[in-house]
Amino acid sequence: MLYDTVERVSIEPMVREFYAMIVKDDLVGPYFVRALGSDLKNDKWYEHYRTLDSFWLMLMTGESGYFGDPFGPHAFLGELTPEIFERWLDLFKAHIDTYYIPEIADKFYKKAEILAKQFQERLADTGEEDE
Ligand code: HEM
Repeated sequence: MLYDTVERVSIEPMVREFYAMIVKDDLVGPYFVRALGSDLKNDKWYEHYRTLDSFWLMLMTGESGYFGDPFGPHAFLGELTPEIFERWLDLFKAHIDTYYIPEIADKFYKKAEILAKQFQERLADTGEEDE
């Protein structure tokens, strides 16, 4: 059954299952293993899940609780090519469609798409400054 409301109760399993899936992906997975380790039960992963729960809750409902900088960590992961962003978005789309009714899943996906675009623009700017 698909969720038709966005609440912490649906976001938490959505986040955990998303990362359990993408960590196995040959293109995107290694970035997460390098940053957080391969044991999805370790402290770094636990923190990551908690951060992403609050992040999505804030984006989708306006509920405060995420106080981080979503772009920051991505500047230190090594090269993130357009292909990698595309894979991340494809995996996210496939996953979110199995969790929420289409109207909500589309809203999640559009937000992810906008952020992926912004991240790429900022990463490109950062790269140019380094040259
Ligand atoms: C190219 C695809 C992506 C890769 C490989 C990637 C990888 C990562 C990694 C490894 C971290 C953990 C960094 C750390 O804690 O040291 C992270 C954090 C995060 N990512 Fe991504 N990411 C990608 C795309 C996205 C997109 C499209 C979004 C937004 C929808 C996003 C949102 C976040 C957020 C909110 C955090 C936590 C930031 C914080 O600590 O406050 N990521 N990402």
